[in-house]
Amino acid sequence: MGRVTAFAVLIGCLALTSATNLNQGRDNPYDLSNIVYMTNGITAIATYHLGNLQAANETVITKLFLNITYDNPQRVRIRITDMQNTRFEVPYDFTNYTIQGNAGLYNVTISANPMGIQVVRQSDNRVIFFLDPSLWFSYDDQDILFTSNYGYGINALGLGERITSFIIPQGTYTLWARDRPSPLDDGQSQDANMYSSQPFYMIIDQETGQAFGGLLYNANAMSVVIGPQSLTFRTTGGIIDMWLFIGPTPEQVVFQYHQLIGPPVEIPYWSLGWHQSRYGYVNVSMLQQVFDNYTNNQLPLDALWNDIDYMSAYEDFMFDPVTYPLNNMTQLVDALLATGKNYIPIVDAGIAQNNSDPFYINGTSSGVWIQNPYTKNAACVGQVWPGNATFIDWLNPNAKNYWVSSLNTFQQTVSFSGIWLDMNEVSNFVSGCVGHEPTLINSTTMPWTPGQDLNTNALDVAATHQNGVTEYNMHSLYGYLESKTAAQYFIQKQTRPFIISRSTFPGHGKWASKWLGDNYSQWSFMEYSIVGIFNFGMFGIPMVGADICGFLGNTNLELCSRWTQLGTMYPFSRNHNDANSIPQEPWAFGPLLIETNNVSIRNKYMLQLYIYTHMMKISSEGGQLFKPAYWEYPSDMNLLYNATSSFMLGKALIVHPCLWYGISGSTSFFPDDMWYNLYSGEYVFLDYENSAYLDMPWPGLINIHVAQGFIIPIVDNYMSAMSLRDTRYSNISLIIVQGPGVEATGSVIFDDGSTYGNMANNNYLEVEYQFFSHNSTFDYLTLQQLQSGYKRETGEWPYISTLIFYGCTAAPESVFKLSNGLVPTYIPANVYWSAEDMICKIWLKNYLQPDEM
Ligand code: GLC
Repeated sequence: MGRVTAFAVLIGCLALTSATNLNQGRDNPYDLSNIVYMTNGITAIATYHLGNLQAANETVITKLFLNITYDNPQRVRIRITDMQNTRFEVPYDFTNYTIQGNAGLYNVTISANPMGIQVVRQSDNRVIFFLDPSLWFSYDDQDILFTSNYGYGINALGLGERITSFIIPQGTYTLWARDRPSPLDDGQSQDANMYSSQPFYMIIDQETGQAFGGLLYNANAMSVVIGPQSLTFRTTGGIIDMWLFIGPTPEQVVFQYHQLIGPPVEIPYWSLGWHQSRYGYVNVSMLQQVFDNYTNNQLPLDALWNDIDYMSAYEDFMFDPVTYPLNNMTQLVDALLATGKNYIPIVDAGIAQNNSDPFYINGTSSGVWIQNPYTKNAACVGQVWPGNATFIDWLNPNAKNYWVSSLNTFQQTVSFSGIWLDMNEVSNFVSGCVGHEPTLINSTTMPWTPGQDLNTNALDVAATHQNGVTEYNMHSLYGYLESKTAAQYFIQKQTRPFIISRSTFPGHGKWASKWLGDNYSQWSFMEYSIVGIFNFGMFGIPMVGADICGFLGNTNLELCSRWTQLGTMYPFSRNHNDANSIPQEPWAFGPLLIETNNVSIRNKYMLQLYIYTHMMKISSEGGQLFKPAYWEYPSDMNLLYNATSSFMLGKALIVHPCLWYGISGSTSFFPDDMWYNLYSGEYVFLDYENSAYLDMPWPGLINIHVAQGFIIPIVDNYMSAMSLRDTRYSNISLIIVQGPGVEATGSVIFDDGSTYGNMANNNYLEVEYQFFSHNSTFDYLTLQQLQSGYKRETGEWPYISTLIFYGCTAAPESVFKLSNGLVPTYIPANVYWSAEDMICKIWLKNYLQPDEM
C-alpha cells in the first residue's frame, strides 16, 4: 500500500513513530494546522499535502476538520469531516450523549506533519488507538481508509454480523447488511457478511488480557482488516466518527459502549419464555394443532408464531381467506391469550405492489417508497415473497405514520403481542430495481469495492430516499430504522415493544431485539449461536437467540434435544424451522424429545425471576445476561480462548452446554471459584486445573453451576406452570450459596411485566436479599426493599416459601424474624440438613411476605 514519499517531512512527528515506521515513508497525505487544545478536546484542520504526493484526484477531500472530544473519563470521540461539503452521516440516535471531559484516565496526543493521533490508556500505558502518521490514510469521496496500529498482539471481537469464532481470525471482513443464510454451502467463506452491520469491536490485549473497544459510526459498506497488531478500516463513504472505550476489563468496555448507544429496551415478562414457530404451518388448523399438542402434552408455551403462511399472496398484514379465515384466526388468538400465551406474526419489509392492497395504496398515497433512480416519481420495485414489492424510505416524514398506522390496523384484525420483522436488510431476490440493470458497481465506477457486489440481493444502490440520499448510504440502516419505527407503535400504547428483527445496526437494541437468522440443523451451528449471542449482547441487543434445532436442513432427535437444552438458556428461546425440513416440534421424535422439552422449558421457568431481574437491570444500565465466562474472570485467558465451552447467565450461573453428538459427558473448564451444582447443591471438586468431568444427561437438564456468594430466587411452581403468566402467582424459594464467613447476595425485580418505561419511572419493586454467615449463634438473612414502586395485583407476588442453603456445614435449629427494633419472633419452620451434601433446607410455614418487610 505504500506510496513513494519524501523522508524529510516525517521528522516533525518523531514522537509518535517508530524507526521502522519512519522507513516506510509518508503515506498519510494530510497535515494538521490551526490546532486548538481545549479542556474537553482538540480541534484542527487537516489539509491534503500536495507537495510530495501525486496530485489529488477530484474525489479527494482536501480539507478536513478534526474534532477530538474527551466525552468522559472512559470515552473519547474522534470525528473527521469534510470542511467544504456535507457528507452522509448516520441519523443520530444517541440521546444519552453528553460531554463530561477527561478525568485523566487516558492521554491524547497528535502530530501535525503528517497527521497522527494517539490515545493511550494511563493505567497501563497501552495504546488504544494510534493513527500512525507513517501508515496509509485516505479520505476520498468513496474511499476512506485508516489504520489503528497498536504495536502489540491483539485478539479482535465483534464486527458483525457473520458466522465466526469468538476471536475473529486475522483477515479482511465486509460489513454490509445482506440476506444470506449462515454461509456454509454456497461456496463462499464462512465469515462473509450477513444480516446486520455492527461496526463495534473489542480488542483484548494478547499480553495483558485487558480490553478496550471502538465504534466506527458509519453505515456505508466497509472492510475491516484484522492484522496481528492493527485494525484497518476502509469504508465506501460517510465520515470518520469513531468512539473509543478505554475498558480496561471486557465488561467495562461493554458498559461504556452501552452508555453511549443507550441501554436496551425493556422486554415483556412473558417473552422470556418458550416460543414455537415454523415456516410451513400452511393453514389455521395446523397452527391450532400445534397449540393443542402443546396442551395435550402438558408442555408450557408462551408464544405461537405465524410465518408468511398466513398471508394472502404473501402480502403483509393480509390473512388468506381460504387457508387462514379470519374467524378461525381470531378464535385461535383469543384462546391463546386466554391461557396466558401470545401470538406473533411475521411482517416482511417489502409491501406487495398490488393496486388492490390497502397497505400498498396507503403507502403510495403517502409517497413513502424508496424511489427508482431511473424513472421519475416511481418506486424502486424489488422482488421478494409476494413478487414485485416496494420498500419504505425511513427518512420520509410520512414513514412513521404509515408504519405505525399499518400496525394499528393490523392489530384491529388480530391481537398480536409482538412483531417479527424479517427480510429487512433490505432483501431483494433480484438485484437493483425491477426493469433496470443495476447501477454498475465495480472497479471502473468505484475506487474499490468491499468483498462483494453491493447490488447483490439489494435494491439499486442509486435508489433514492428523502432529499436525494441514496441506498448506497442507507442500505444497512433499513432493519434498524424499521424496528425503531415499529417500536413507536408499541410505545404509543405504553406497551413494551417486542420486536424480533433480522437486520440491525448500532442503536437497534434501544428499540428492538433480534434473532440470528437462517441457520442449519447442524451441530456446529449450536456453537456459532453462542458466539452470536455473545456478540449481539456486546452490540447492546441482549434479547437474542438462534432457531432452536436448526432452520435449514433436517434435524434429528439427539441434535434437537441438545439444542433444546442449550436454547432454553438463550435469552430468546424459539424453535423455528424451514418449510422444507422435517418437523421438529417437541413431539416430532416421540417421548424422549417431549421429555427434554418439558424439563428444559421448565428449567427456564424456574430461573425466570433471576433472568427477568437481570434483563430489567440491563435495560436501565446496559450489560449482558448471556456472556462469556471471561467477562467475569478476566484474569484467566483460557476462558477467552475456550469462550464457547461455557457461558454465564449473570454473575452467578455458569452453563456448560453439550455441543457434540454421541457423548454423555465431558471434561469441562471452570473459572477459579467455588461452584455448586444448581440442581443438587453438590459441590464441584475440581479434579485438575479447574476442570471437572461433567455428566451431560439426555433427556435431562443442561449443566448449570452456581458460584458461592449468590442468592438465586427460584419460582416454586415451575413444574406445573403452563405459561410464564402462571409463575406470577407462585411462591419462591431462595437458593443461598453460602460458605464460612461468606456473604451471599441476590435480588428480585417485580413489576407489571408489560408497561413501557417501568424502570425509568420507578414503577417496580426491587428486593435485595443478603445473607451473612457469622459462624456464631445466628446467621442473618435480610430482605430490603430498594424500590417499592409496584403494588401487586391480588395474589400476585413471590412469597418466600423455602430457604435452601448450599455449602451448609451445620443444621439450622430455629428460625426467628427480627423486626421493629430487632425483637426476635419465633417463626414456625421445618428444617433439614444433610451433612454429607452440605445442604440445609428451611420450609417456612407462614410464608415470608413482602408486606412484612
Ligand atoms: C426468511 C427468514 C425465515 C422465514 C422465511 C420465510 O428466510 O429468515 O425465518 O421462515 O424467511 O418467511
